[in-house]
Amino acid sequence: MTSFNKRVLLITGGAGFIGSHVVRLFVNKYPEYKIINLDKLTYAGNLANLKDIEDKPNYRFVRMDICDFEGVLKLMQEEQVDGIIHLAAESHVDRSIKDPFTFAQTNVMGTLSLLQAAKTFWESQPTPYVISHETTVNVPCRFYHISTDEVYGALEMTHPEGIEPPFTTKASSGKHHLAYGEKFFTEDLKYQPHSPYSAAKASSDHFVRAFHDTFGMPTIVTNCSNNYGPYQFPEKLIPLFINNIRHRKPLPVYGKGENVRDWLYVEDHARAIDLIFHEGKVAETYNIGGFNEWKNIDIIKVIIQTVNKALGRVKLETSETGETIETYPDMDLITYVTDRAGHDLRYAIDSSKLQRELGWEPSLQFEEGIEKTVRWYLDNQPWMDNVTSGDYQKYYEDMYKGR
Ligand code: NAD
Ligand code: DAU
Repeated sequence: MTSFNKRVLLITGGAGFIGSHVVRLFVNKYPEYKIINLDKLTYAGNLANLKDIEDKPNYRFVRMDICDFEGVLKLMQEEQVDGIIHLAAESHVDRSIKDPFTFAQTNVMGTLSLLQAAKTFWESQPTPYVISHETTVNVPCRFYHISTDEVYGALEMTHPEGIEPPFTTKASSGKHHLAYGEKFFTEDLKYQPHSPYSAAKASSDHFVRAFHDTFGMPTIVTNCSNNYGPYQFPEKLIPLFINNIRHRKPLPVYGKGENVRDWLYVEDHARAIDLIFHEGKVAETYNIGGFNEWKNIDIIKVIIQTVNKALGRVKLETSETGETIETYPDMDLITYVTDRAGHDLRYAIDSSKLQRELGWEPSLQFEEGIEKTVRWYLDNQPWMDNVTSGDYQKYYEDMYKGR
């Protein structure tokens, strides 16, 4: 086993959206670590997300399926892996409604395969991995599972007009921040997943905790809210809408656009993962969120305004009172379509435990984050063109035709 300051980390799903930010952060910040990115490269995996670090001496990419138990075990033995950050998953709710089997296979069986490989390898080591439940930092190895707030189900919207949230952070001092109910997801809530995606993630979380409780595996689970930022596949709301606005295509708003999500800039999630991997308590769960609830329709309007400004499409008109006002022509693209089946009404994360115990909070206010994000997609059109060529057109047809 390697010594603690010269770690070998296996990051799964590192070619995806969040994974690529985590890999980049770790490769740059810890030149003394070896970072192995294990990814199957499904439609969502893209090595172009990691172009800037692919030649770094402390980085290795391995194309592999997490369900390949023998392959993962061999890799762990060969590289003497002592830490795992597990992000590989099927991640899109709409796809899980069309094809739940793939979600069970990757998210449940894949996680189990990874757990069993880690257990087999770590048990064979001279330094036993079994630790006391009280041990915090100084353990030889660690299995960190990245999960989602969707496992908690949906919260009621008791205040559709919005109320002052109970949290104050740098991120929530933005003028748009409101909460839409009094309840929040806390770490002790019962799991109540509704979609095949969240059911599969919930199941994988249970397996991770079972490996701790049964075998003493040093595990950590975090449940995060909606991430946004560069390199997100344009099946998810924000990049899909930015791309459609650019091409003046309709913006398919599910239902009435009243559903609420909590949004976190992806680099803030990566920072939280770094902190928790190194300083989080084994066997604990931490919620990670942006203290930043938005109704879909409101966030969509902000995206349209931001893209219209960036592309110089804003029009100046004179109001009835003679004032000059800005208008955003692409508001006309908003198209209400059939709702997502089982669409969870409201997600709202309470991440005050993480703030209190480890001192983390989001660094960006949403207005800043969304501007950076829009700018990135508009400046990186070749990236977008590449991921929207080929199969993407067929996906779009299947998902949105006749909706
Ligand atoms: P993503 O879909 O962008 O990327 C997933 C990555 O996993 C891809 O690179 C893909 O190739 C890889 N992968 C898929 N199946 C694999 C397999 N069988 N073996 C190896 N690699 C495989 O996902 P994301 O949005 O970056 O999410 C990453 C993780 O974070 C997921 O576990 C997701 O549940 C969780 N999460 C996501 C969000 C979010 O807002 N995106 C929020 C909270 C939690
Ligand atoms: O909460 C964390 C989760 O956030 C992650 O676990 C998932 O991996 C991630 O995909 C995300 O799930 P959502 O379903 O919330 O994200 P999505 O971007 O698909 O949708 C955000 C909201 O926008 C949701 O209420 C559905 C709505 N929507 C989405 C799409 C793609 C639309 O109205 N129209 C659309 O075309």
